[in-house]
Amino acid sequence: MIRRYLRKLLFLPLIALAFGSCSLKQSAEPVTPKLTPKIRELLREEMVSINEASQEIFKALIAGDDEQVAILAQQIHDSFILKQSMTAEDKADLMAVAPKGFVEMDKRFHEISAELAQAARAGNRPLQQQQFERMIQACSACHAQHATDRFPKFIE
Ligand code: HEC
Repeated sequence: MIRRYLRKLLFLPLIALAFGSCSLKQSAEPVTPKLTPKIRELLREEMVSINEASQEIFKALIAGDDEQVAILAQQIHDSFILKQSMTAEDKADLMAVAPKGFVEMDKRFHEISAELAQAARAGNRPLQQQQFERMIQACSACHAQHATDRFPKFIE
């Protein structure tokens, strides 16, 4: 009996994954209202800069400019908000309030940018496109889950 119940519990996240956007609507948990003004501003600055970098990556990809893709993707990776632009105290503040899923999504996002940089350094163009697609998915997945106050269309 308990086993069956447990199995159901384990199964639920899979269903949630399978139904992607539907479940995102239900579990959306905007992160910014929980942040101090300072951290909110750091996050916004970070977003503006990765937004610019990702558009430049798009331009470089369609120009076959591997070197530029590698530089930009590495920049995105290195700007990891949880690691760089924050002091240890800021980081502790963020960790205390950010939902666990947010921290994980940010980490994954930065892993993807490192993989994109790697593919670019290796001159592997099909892989660069694949990683870029994953990167865009990671942007919108996090926005749909944790930035619906800024991007309300995700919950329309
Ligand atoms: C781990 C979560 C996460 C990831 C990954 C993420 N974002 Fe965001 N993004 C946010 C949050 C939260 C906000 C809302 C910030 C606010 O309301 O000030 C935001 C806001 C933004 C904004 C609006 C900034 C403004 O001026 O208000 C832009 C543009 C943006 N993100 C672009 C991107 C792009 C492009 C990517 C991927 C290359 C990306 N984001 C990846 C969480 C994320």
